[in-house]
Amino acid sequence: MNDLMSFLACPLCRGSLTSVGVNRVECLSCKAAYPVKDGIPILLPPKLDQFKVLEAEFHSNEADYFAERAHRFSYRVSRYHDDYLTCFSSYQEGAVVFVVGGGGGLEACRLKDMGLTVIESDIAVGMVKRARRRAVDDGQNARAVFVVCDAEQLPCPDQSLDAILIVGALHHLPSPGRFFAAANRALKPGGQLVIGFEPNRWPYYTVMPVLKFFSRMLHPYRKINPGEISIGDMETKGFVETDFESFIRAEGLKKVSLQRIWYLGGFVHLAILYINSKRPAERMIDLPIALQRALVACDDFLSRIPLLRRFCWHWTLVAQRPYTDNGL
Ligand SMILES: C[S@@+](CC[C@H](N)C(=O)[O-])C[C@H]1O[C@@H](n2cnc3c(N)ncnc32)[C@H](O)[C@@H]1O
Ligand SMILES: [Zn+2]
Repeated sequence: MNDLMSFLACPLCRGSLTSVGVNRVECLSCKAAYPVKDGIPILLPPKLDQFKVLEAEFHSNEADYFAERAHRFSYRVSRYHDDYLTCFSSYQEGAVVFVVGGGGGLEACRLKDMGLTVIESDIAVGMVKRARRRAVDDGQNARAVFVVCDAEQLPCPDQSLDAILIVGALHHLPSPGRFFAAANRALKPGGQLVIGFEPNRWPYYTVMPVLKFFSRMLHPYRKINPGEISIGDMETKGFVETDFESFIRAEGLKKVSLQRIWYLGGFVHLAILYINSKRPAERMIDLPIALQRALVACDDFLSRIPLLRRFCWHWTLVAQRPYTDNGL
């Protein structure tokens, strides 16, 4: 562990933490003790919902191949990740960003490249270890602290963060509203909350049931075993614009922007994921880059057409904690 540990606090009472030997940290206020495994503090409350336990197990198991399988390096995906990273371009060196549900550390690496200090977290210890390996490979681990924690109980002091980034993980939470409350508490006045790549609702009532129907017709005896799919992905119904509005209103946050991601791109992505799910990892296919650029340009155009623009597949929301209590 490094001196960036001082950015962390007890998830229960936000008291300061102190190391007790190499395998334990303790809260100086409430005396709660937390294990440290392989140098990673596990700052989870003693009783974790079964839902979260399952999420942690599932994502730990997929940590090594998640990014490749999700096509995170493909232009039609990475272009939109680049978009939300621009939110951080004006930050001063050393500004502190808490990456929540950060998986294998892709976003965190980019933030560290920008000179920011990053708290890299996930509920799945396997993911946090993957993120740490990535940071070591990139020679960047001095700018980061790695921690296992729950997005709904962020282990950091009040008003201590310049920004929070959560990508593709809000829909994995049983209570996104609790995450907004935790984020609001932890942000400094003026701090930004960046929520990248969260699913829209309409595909869960149209495309997904049709796909499920065909899948059942093709494989009538196939059972999905527990652990094969993330429970968060199975249970979510995505978000509509008004969900985000009510979350930010409840916390008194200010909306900065809501970006719409993928129209045709969503269908293409699903088709490519399906084809690749039948192929070995080293022989996955993708569209040529020129076609991907054309697809992105087409989708960006569709995002400007009234009414149609509602039917994006994903959202990126940027919100800000106001500087003063009267919202300014
Ligand atoms: C779809 S992955 C996204 C990972 C990464 N942000 C990315 O875009 O590559 C969702 C992540 O959320 C994490 N997660 C699920 N429930 C969580 C919770 N309650 N608190 C923190 N992270 C959670 C999972 O372990 C997983 O790594
Ligand atoms: Zn405590």
